[in-house]
Amino acid sequence: MPRVFISRDLPFPALDRLKEQHEVDVWEQRTPPPPDDFLARAREADALLTCVTENVDGDFLDRAAPITAVANLAVGTDNIDLEAAKQRGIPVGNTPGVLTDATADIAFALLLGIARRITEGDREVREGRWAPWHPGHMLGGDLADNTLGIIGWGRIGQAMARRGEGFGMRVVHHSRSSGIDLDELLETSDYVSLHTPLTPETRHLMGAAQFARMKQTAYFINTSRGGTVDQDALRAALVDGEIAGAGLDVTDPEPLPGDDPLLTAPNLLVVPHVGSATVRTRSRMADLAVDNLLAALAGDEMPNRVA
Ligand code: GLV
Ligand code: GLV
Repeated sequence: MPRVFISRDLPFPALDRLKEQHEVDVWEQRTPPPPDDFLARAREADALLTCVTENVDGDFLDRAAPITAVANLAVGTDNIDLEAAKQRGIPVGNTPGVLTDATADIAFALLLGIARRITEGDREVREGRWAPWHPGHMLGGDLADNTLGIIGWGRIGQAMARRGEGFGMRVVHHSRSSGIDLDELLETSDYVSLHTPLTPETRHLMGAAQFARMKQTAYFINTSRGGTVDQDALRAALVDGEIAGAGLDVTDPEPLPGDDPLLTAPNLLVVPHVGSATVRTRSRMADLAVDNLLAALAGDEMPNRVA
């Protein structure tokens, strides 16, 4: 019976469907398997269910051979060398579609949270610093009639656009194949939200030059991958007041150490990569990942195959 290694416990019904047909080896700890453990367990397995925390490259696939399928519990697959998998004939699957709304919700929550200074206000109250009402206290950014610039026009970028429209924002976008020029978007947007996959082309897409083009009153939101942003440049832009604030669901590295210099920057809101973290969304992601594995192990095409 084929054996599947799952790099984290999946507290969802999908796991039972997998267990009905296959031997399942689950990494029970909350923290990811260290690389040596990951390799050792993968060597005992025929297929893998991985999370964004696991790196799968050609060397790993050779050493773990024979792995016949990899299902990633994510829509992004930058943790997997797709070319290496393709060369070895190993199908790789992802979980598109089901996390679109949840991720756009987090992006919009970050946008509202940083523009209206939600966590800052909460801290002020809890720390007993709530001063009497003042017309100039905790002023933030407006949404209505402001421009939301979306970089990356996939499912999540478009879902973010719908949210912006719902709040009366003007929406512009930039992608490889449509929309306006990136520089024009950066110069004209009051909010810039990043929704591109991480690829060699998008690594550090946002650097010092890009932050410098943004309005000093503009906010930057990232729910894609930390690697799309030059984090030192973002920190400098916040410290120097080149932009008004930033909201991040993703950083480089993850987890971001509590003493990382980025966290000393002003007007920064960071949450720990929770874009898809709703009960229904995670359960659906597990379903899609298991569907991919069941299909591949039955010799069929994965329903959501990326390589
Ligand atoms: C999560 O970050 C994903 O890519 O699904
Ligand atoms: C992800 O699902 C995207 O296409 O944005």
